[in-house]
Amino acid sequence: MEFRSLSVILLLVSLVRAGHAQGYYKPVLTVQPLRPQIFTGETVTLTCYIPGERLTDWMYQWIRDNTEFHNSNYYIRKIKVDQSSKYRCCCYYKHSQGYSGCTDEVTLTVTALPTATLTVDPTWSPVFTGESVTLKCEIQSYSNWRYQWYKGSSRTAVSQSQTNTFTIRSAADQDQDQYWCRGERDYRPSSSQFSNRVGLSVNEKPKPELTSSHKGAALIGNPVVLYCELDQSAGWRFYWSKHTQSPENETKPETHSYTISSVSVSDGGQYWCRAGRGTPVYYTHYSDALWINTTDVSPPVSLMVSPSRTQHFSADSLSLSCEGQSDSTGWRVRRYTHSQKVSNCSSGWGSVTGSTCSISSLSTSHTGLYWCESESGESSNPVNITVTNNNGILDSPVHPIMEGDPLTLHCLYRDPKPTNLTAEFYKDGSLLQTQTTGEMTIRTVSKSDEGLYHCKHPERGESPQSGISVRTAESAPDLVIVVVGVSFAGLFIILLILLWCYRTHKGHLENINQMSVQNQRESGAEDSQSGHLPVQAGDVHVYDTMQRAGEAADELSDVTYSQVLRKNKKLKNKDADTGSMEVTYAEIELKTKKKPKKKQEMISVNADTVYSEVKQNTNEGKINSIE
Ligand SMILES: *[C@@H]1O[C@H](CO)[C@@H](O)[C@H](O)[C@H]1NC(C)=O
Ligand SMILES: *[C@@H]1O[C@H](CO)[C@@H](O)[C@H](O)[C@H]1NC(C)=O
Ligand SMILES: *[C@@H]1O[C@H](CO)[C@@H](O)[C@H](O)[C@H]1NC(C)=O
Ligand SMILES: *[C@@H]1O[C@H](CO)[C@@H](O)[C@H](O)[C@H]1NC(C)=O
Ligand SMILES: *[C@@H]1O[C@H](CO)[C@@H](O)[C@H](O)[C@H]1NC(C)=O
Repeated sequence: MEFRSLSVILLLVSLVRAGHAQGYYKPVLTVQPLRPQIFTGETVTLTCYIPGERLTDWMYQWIRDNTEFHNSNYYIRKIKVDQSSKYRCCCYYKHSQGYSGCTDEVTLTVTALPTATLTVDPTWSPVFTGESVTLKCEIQSYSNWRYQWYKGSSRTAVSQSQTNTFTIRSAADQDQDQYWCRGERDYRPSSSQFSNRVGLSVNEKPKPELTSSHKGAALIGNPVVLYCELDQSAGWRFYWSKHTQSPENETKPETHSYTISSVSVSDGGQYWCRAGRGTPVYYTHYSDALWINTTDVSPPVSLMVSPSRTQHFSADSLSLSCEGQSDSTGWRVRRYTHSQKVSNCSSGWGSVTGSTCSISSLSTSHTGLYWCESESGESSNPVNITVTNNNGILDSPVHPIMEGDPLTLHCLYRDPKPTNLTAEFYKDGSLLQTQTTGEMTIRTVSKSDEGLYHCKHPERGESPQSGISVRTAESAPDLVIVVVGVSFAGLFIILLILLWCYRTHKGHLENINQMSVQNQRESGAEDSQSGHLPVQAGDVHVYDTMQRAGEAADELSDVTYSQVLRKNKKLKNKDADTGSMEVTYAEIELKTKKKPKKKQEMISVNADTVYSEVKQNTNEGKINSIE
């Protein structure tokens, strides 16, 4: 019996030894606590042992993801898990080499803690002193969170809240810092991750800068755009005041610009702007005041458009130039388009040569209001330009038309031109006429012809609309009257001089008369250009012409040589009555013009067609052609 027991033990011992020799010991790795989920940062206990063996007889090699991380007598390891890994353990018999065994791999799958996201309302940066800022900590999974708020270099929370928001009611300098948050709770997972960090910048309350598209006084009818510039931050709405800084009378366009598309006298005055954002609205300081001054004096420069019409086909070219009686150097073409921007030709939409702006290929974005502006800010009357992709356009004048003038409107087409030109003409949307020639004429334009015109071809379709405005004689700047007035003044001076000449040079008149014919030819040409009134006795012809120009401007076209001659005869008789035999008369053939518009044309003197009647000492009149 004892022998049998002993033999069993011996057998077992021999088996164990045989096991050692062949490495058959199989260690086991256990994990505690055993849970379906392990969260990042939690601690687990790993235990490694060979069932039935004395723990102290063995050395334990700990391996994570195939890398040894510990090798000692310790068969238990407490591990704080950060990430999912594979663990195993190998045991080595201390007392003789060659006896060893490894556990199977155990995979610890770690679930990340819920994320926390910190957001800031408002989203713009910087914020300004006095603005309200709300931080929000959002954790998507689990519930019953408490929120910890962190700021700056502090390792502990500066605040804790049951709600997920943290509000700074009125931001101040010391609030400028980094912020982040974390959730905590009494259950697993017991915390969230730390949130992202958010920097808060706090600046001084800003003051916007108010600028105008116009430097000087704005010509009535021109567009004026005011800009409220605030280069910091975003989210602003803009508020505009006129005359006073009154909150209740502020207007509020959404954009940072305030457009007066056609300035009138009542638009003149002082303006301010300020910006606001958020609810309740946080306001910036007011800008400095800006004056809008208006003027009705248009400068002597106007914008010439070539081809000279309001409407243009896309892809065509266009030339815009500033031209005037005076020097137009320094004048440049500017425009205002629907994108609410006033810009220079040089800012990308055209190419500048002197005072001319050329656009090589038009597009609909070129539609807008164009004018000329001097360096000092004077601006010419604006011109509407419409660029269309349509196949038909209306050929209408760019500048206002004078009352009483004729007006012809054409309907024009892209190539190839239609064979049948029949087109309909509309005014303010209603059909005015149908013309087989494709053109429509108003013989004498009146104020009632003002309106929006367009034309329509049955195949080529409609043109865009264009406004036609009519200028009445009174509203026209009355250059004619001014020039005539000046002429009379000049005339009066000449009369005085003549009188003086007559008295002092009575004895030398014969000589002067002989010279006068040549003088007339030279000085006549100069006069027409320079406009100066010469004071030589030989230039009496100028006096004669000026008088007629002044006394009967409207009849000028009808003045014929014979009429002039008759008038001279009268004068001659009058002179004869006074006993003078030595007066020189001169005739100038006047340029006949259907509609003289400018005084310059009326008084123009053509030196090559000067006729003069010279009364010699004899009573016979004699006409010398100078040609
Ligand atoms: C506009 O008028 C005001 C008041 O008359 C004057 O002070 C200001 O200088 C003028 N500004 C310009 C640009 O002409
Ligand atoms: C606001 O505008 C009205 C009407 O133009 C005016 O009577 C009133 O005085 C203005 N208020 C202030 C504070 O300027
Ligand atoms: C237009 O040109 C003038 C002078 O060249 C310049 O001062 C101004 O800033 C320009 N404006 C724009 C909108 O480009
Ligand atoms: C230009 O065209 C627009 C739109 O048709 C119109 O409101 C404006 O009065 C026109 N301006 C001029 C100067 O013709
Ligand atoms: C031209 O077109 C008009 C309108 O479509 C039509 O009434 C007219 O008969 C056409 N004329 C010719 C010569 O085809």
